Amino acid sequence: MNEGAGVDPSVYRAPVGTHDVLPPESDRWIEAVATFADRARRFGYGLVVTPVFEHLEVFQRVGASTDVVRKEMYEFEDKGGRRLALRPEGTAPVVRAFVQHRPTPPWKVWYLAPHFRYERPQKGRYRQHWQLGAEVMGVDDPDVDVEVIALAHGFYRDLGLTCTRLLLNSMGDAQSRPAYVAALRTYLLGHGGAFGDEFRARVEQNPLRLLDAKNEDWQDVIERAPQLTEYLSDTAVAHFEQVQQGLTALGIAYELTPRLVRGFDYYTATTFEFVSDALDGAQNAVGGGGRYDQLAEDMGGPPTPSIGFGIGIERVLIARQAELGDAVPAGPRLDAFVVDALGEGAATLLVAELREAGLAADRAYGGRSVKAQWKVADRSGARYAVMLGRREAEHDAVAVKDLRDPDGTQTEVPRREVAGWLQARREQGPHDHPGVNR
Ligand code: HAM
Repeated sequence: MNEGAGVDPSVYRAPVGTHDVLPPESDRWIEAVATFADRARRFGYGLVVTPVFEHLEVFQRVGASTDVVRKEMYEFEDKGGRRLALRPEGTAPVVRAFVQHRPTPPWKVWYLAPHFRYERPQKGRYRQHWQLGAEVMGVDDPDVDVEVIALAHGFYRDLGLTCTRLLLNSMGDAQSRPAYVAALRTYLLGHGGAFGDEFRARVEQNPLRLLDAKNEDWQDVIERAPQLTEYLSDTAVAHFEQVQQGLTALGIAYELTPRLVRGFDYYTATTFEFVSDALDGAQNAVGGGGRYDQLAEDMGGPPTPSIGFGIGIERVLIARQAELGDAVPAGPRLDAFVVDALGEGAATLLVAELREAGLAADRAYGGRSVKAQWKVADRSGARYAVMLGRREAEHDAVAVKDLRDPDGTQTEVPRREVAGWLQARREQGPHDHPGVNR
């Protein structure tokens, strides 16, 4: 019997809130990753790879009062009875790895990882999304804040995004925060008495979370709440001013945003978010981060002031498509498509030779007619077709045709020189990646 019979066909689709990344979208995806990796390397960051799941407690540490941790985690018990969760955010695993391995500070790392949040899916908000992130652990220097922000800022610029704005705030330090939290709680309970039990419970648990609450009815009261900046200690103010001066010196524009509290409990001092005006309001954050000077200690490590950010790859690609449209390069193209009229393994050998010479080369399969092979060559997007023809073979040559030339003239090239000939054309460019602002 057919085992598929009787099964709801929807189980053979990617689960709600997840999606497959296929070519050519995946070309853009890998380009974004490579661009970030190159920039992180130039800034002196090494790649860190942590497990996709951790002990539940690792994530509970980062936000007992946050929706991501309270309501959206993919938690499970493994067959050995361990309580685990799929990574909802990337900072906690990196801090856990730091505390476990005790590398010498400053520890500068970057990551690429899938993240899992049981959210209400919509465009730009998924149950599995990918983040590119960076963390610097073990230094409390405003220059590091500036460097980390510059790393993210430069990445958006590399990809040609121009509608991205940097929102900046300071959450204060261990001295300034408690006084503010107490004042905010008193204010919110005093002015929001009519808002009901949910409001009260959230204020009791962590009044900071209310500052970015979306509930329309509460907005008036929230807007008039005391601001954290009024409560910053002298040290926190000095740190924050140096960050602002550093950004200005690098020509990085920012908007001071006193109600930017970010979604996790671990944030201290500098916090920031990059929003794209090319995206819908609710999902317009293309990245965000900040300092988390206590988290390593909270996990049993030494005092380790740290800062980092996460960037949502899907959102960046949506923003890029919205801003650049068809100007977004479609990804790496083939240098050559081999059309074979000789048979007997000639195409296999030539394609292998071209690939070993560093060229991107492909061919048709399945013994197709020469005419059919030309059709595939035309559709392939390759720059050149390399024809293994009988007439040319008589004097050890191939015919090369520029597939972008509408007149379709063919050039005869000696067989043993074809790789060099294609390489020379490739170096001359321009190839298929027109001017994205690099
Ligand atoms: P986050 O703001 O929760 O921060 O996520 C970072 C970025 O991931 C967001 O700005 C957004 O671009 C993307 N993102 C978040 N949730 C989704 C989703 N459901 N679907 C698609 N994209 C999403 C963090 O996760 C912190 N760990 C960042 C950090 C690192 N802070 C310090 N170091």
